[in-house]
Amino acid sequence: MSNASTIRCLITAGPTREFIDPVRFISNPSTGKMGFALAEAALQAGWNVDLVAGPVDLEEPDGAILYPVTTAKEMFHQVDALFDACDVLIMTAAVSDFRPVRQHAWKEKKHDATMTIEFERTTDILKAVAQRKLGQTVVGFAAETHDLIRYAREKLESKDLDFIVANQVGRAGAGFAAESNEVTLIAADGSSFKIGPASKAVIAKELIALITPERSLAGEVL
Ligand code: CTP
Repeated sequence: MSNASTIRCLITAGPTREFIDPVRFISNPSTGKMGFALAEAALQAGWNVDLVAGPVDLEEPDGAILYPVTTAKEMFHQVDALFDACDVLIMTAAVSDFRPVRQHAWKEKKHDATMTIEFERTTDILKAVAQRKLGQTVVGFAAETHDLIRYAREKLESKDLDFIVANQVGRAGAGFAAESNEVTLIAADGSSFKIGPASKAVIAKELIALITPERSLAGEVL
């Protein structure tokens, strides 16, 4: 990654939608703001950017190649197709962990007072592609409501990541849909760097500056 103009960065952003029938789906409140801010910051650093985005209501970053997707399956296929050519993968997307086992072709009618939907796991995109990395720097996000650092470190190890961005969600002023954020970047060697509270644009700029192939940071080992 010595020549900035040659760095190819693959960023995922936003939620996915898993359909129950043509008019109903399960999803999450991700807006894609953090991923799009990272795309902007990477472009400003002179990187090439492939941006795989779930359904979001955001302006396309000028200069990025945008790949719109809807479901976790579509996101997996798109990331899988682009991964080998990238130098850096940053997975900010809030991928649905489960999808309905059956997707009905027609709108389901309400027959009973209760309804049971059976779900199955989606592919863990990050884990699947990280298993075949050949020199790529792979960065995950850990969105947690509690025990942030412990869970983030577990994800870093179990998904074989180079960095993880630990992101507290479920409280005002950080995480999903918030304008600002506060994160801790943790490297594979346990060293860390706290960023924020700051706007998502400022956090994105700092993250792009800190994500290097060295897999290490100057800060405290957590
Ligand atoms: N991720 C992924 N594919 C999935 C689920 C998550 O690639 N099917 C990625 C996310 O984009 C993120 C990281 O894995 O970079 C962690 O996601 P998170 O939702 O915090 O954790 P999970 O691995 O889904 O674990 P859990 O829901 O049990 O906390």
